[in-house]
Amino acid sequence: MLEKIKETVEFIQSKLEFNPEVGIILGTGLGGLTKEINIEFEIEYKDIPNFPVSTVEGHRGALIFGEFAGKKVIAMQGRFHYYEGYTMQETTFPVRVLKLLGIELLIVSNASGGINPDFSVGDIMVINDHINLFGTSPLIGKNISELGPRFPDMSEAYDKKLIAKALEIGNKLNIKLRKGIYAGVTGPTFETPAEYFYIRSTGADAVGMSTVPEVIVARHMNMTCFALSVITDSGVPGEIVEVSHEEVQEVASKAESKMALVIAELLKSI
Ligand code: HPA
Repeated sequence: MLEKIKETVEFIQSKLEFNPEVGIILGTGLGGLTKEINIEFEIEYKDIPNFPVSTVEGHRGALIFGEFAGKKVIAMQGRFHYYEGYTMQETTFPVRVLKLLGIELLIVSNASGGINPDFSVGDIMVINDHINLFGTSPLIGKNISELGPRFPDMSEAYDKKLIAKALEIGNKLNIKLRKGIYAGVTGPTFETPAEYFYIRSTGADAVGMSTVPEVIVARHMNMTCFALSVITDSGVPGEIVEVSHEEVQEVASKAESKMALVIAELLKSI
């Protein structure tokens, strides 16, 4: 796998004219955040050697290179999900590539179901921890010791200083930010009421189908991680209604501009 990662990194480096500092993964309905990026160039996933190709609507597949809030960024417009049939290693391959391109800070966004009864649809949650309910891990298999340790520490998967800064920024900008634990599941079904209840009982505040594998791989390589989740539907007993991918996309895209503001201020502050 290391050979493949290096091959992809060399391909991108041959086109890259700056040293990237920040990687951003844009989740469901949040791809429009690229409007805020001063784009220098883009490469579609299908043109990148060894890159998987995104199969989900609302997830266009391209790497966007440019400047955002004064930082040189690479944004992933479209991510890879385990439920698409990729292996955990394929799902997280781009994160490996971002790290080898020199990126130390990974910003992740996603859409999720809210299971904390205090949360409302449309809220933005700063992820302060996660629970891996995928039943597997992208690190299963022979460890690539050049990339990280066999048994990575996860005591602070999401950077505490960045979380505190983001919450301050929310206060300052009058953007209501929640804070909570994200449980990652395989999907692709949304949960049954019994499953939402079960996931709530694990201690999670929101549930979604991404992010956890990416953050595990990022932490394996000692990248700093920060993540935001848009609560797009409710998994709280008594509030559960039928949900569709289209609704999830719609709610997420409404939160997009607020999320972009928080991320921009956060990047300016570091
Ligand atoms: N469950 C799982 N994933 C999700 C949800 C949900 O309710 N909403 C958006 N992604």
